[in-house]
Amino acid sequence: MPIDLSSIAQLVILIGIIVFISILFISMFSPAPFLPTNYKKVDLMIKEAHLMQTDTVFDLGSGDGRIVITAAEMGVKEAVGFEINPALNLFAKAWAKVMRLKNTNFITKSFWRADLAECNKLFLYLLPKTLDKLETKIIEEMHSGSRIISYKFKFKNLKLVKSLEKDEIYVYEV
Ligand SMILES: C[S@@+](CC[C@H](N)C(=O)[O-])C[C@H]1O[C@@H](n2cnc3c(N)ncnc32)[C@H](O)[C@@H]1O
Repeated sequence: MPIDLSSIAQLVILIGIIVFISILFISMFSPAPFLPTNYKKVDLMIKEAHLMQTDTVFDLGSGDGRIVITAAEMGVKEAVGFEINPALNLFAKAWAKVMRLKNTNFITKSFWRADLAECNKLFLYLLPKTLDKLETKIIEEMHSGSRIISYKFKFKNLKLVKSLEKDEIYVYEV
């Protein structure tokens, strides 16, 4: 009996879509949930970062890649996203490819293993208990003059240089 290749291809694509949606769905309810920043806030955060062509940008927990892609579109040297959810990184990589962006990098590993000395602009939208722990890593690793933009939640000890209270955007410098 001949094998129907188009049916097999359809089945593989269907399984892929189901796995992708399942990972996204599970991530919504994980202890580190994927909640995307809305684009109005993304634009404000990018504005407050004072991006320059020489900048290396990190987004810790980059989700679907929207901050990394927006920063890359502004022409920074490199915009890097660290994300533990492989489905989200797959999506972000495909999106960057469609946008023909050469200055993005999406790394599927925990941001606890990132060397923050490699970036001078840092974006975060993470839970307060994670920010508390990250503070030490930021102070130890980031070079002086680096700028940090946190959405929704504040750091306790970093030097706050600007706060957009209504938009819940907090800007820090080390
Ligand atoms: C609130 S979402 C923010 C997504 C994106 N930065 C944005 O603003 O749209 C937090 C993301 O952090 C990711 N995340 C949580 N802990 C992580 C870790 N240790 N390493 C890498 N990514 C992590 C989650 O999977 C989730 O996608």
